[in-house]
Amino acid sequence: MTDVKLAIVYYSATGTVRTMAERLAATAEQAGAEVRLRQVQRQPTGGEKAATDEQAAEAEAAKGAPGATADDVVWADAVLFGSPTRYGNIAGQLKTFIDSLGAQWAQGLLADKVYAGFTASQTAHGGQETTLIALYNTIYHFGGIIVPPGYTDGSKFVDGNPYGVSHVTGGGNDIPVGDVTNTALDHLVQRVIGITRKLKG
Ligand SMILES: Cc1cc2nc3c(=O)[nH]c(=O)nc-3n(C[C@H](O)[C@H](O)[C@H](O)COP(=O)(O)O)c2cc1C
Repeated sequence: MTDVKLAIVYYSATGTVRTMAERLAATAEQAGAEVRLRQVQRQPTGGEKAATDEQAAEAEAAKGAPGATADDVVWADAVLFGSPTRYGNIAGQLKTFIDSLGAQWAQGLLADKVYAGFTASQTAHGGQETTLIALYNTIYHFGGIIVPPGYTDGSKFVDGNPYGVSHVTGGGNDIPVGDVTNTALDHLVQRVIGITRKLKG
């Protein structure tokens, strides 16, 4: 059953958000959704200009990943946007992609879809919630339907983020995505697919 079309659109400088996006895609496919996993254009900005070895390695690893287009968002019934935290906000690279959707927004082609977000930051109180809320400001303007995880499952009391899914990478930016984050990602994408199915009738 491929009744739900899901676009996962993300930016990742050092691979954490990409790992999260890949988990979402795998779980969504198991749940029967048709998935487009797409990265937005990788262009270093600001603090990323002096690229670290980590960022260079991720740029190499992500070379083959398909790029996001406006059609991927228009095509989808549900969209999951992912971005690392940047000063408590989404990354400029994802914002640039979102800003490129003006023509589709003007035609109402971004409305009436389900949306949710996921993020990663180095520190636990470094702006994960504000990043997701900043992302959701845009969704109101789309006329989208935000489907947050809330505390709709016991596991949400473990990862503790009702706004979306977030992972803390630590001071060395090297704590891998593990069971707690993966459980939260699985819950989010299953919930998004389930609610999209209900909306589609
Ligand atoms: C310019 C810049 C700003 C950042 N701002 C924050 C921040 O406000 N809070 C935080 O905890 N981490 C911050 N970080 C760290 C990243 O959010 C973190 O390393 C994230 O896990 C990277 O995800 P990625 O591996 O998908 O690129 C920042 C990193 C950069 C390069």
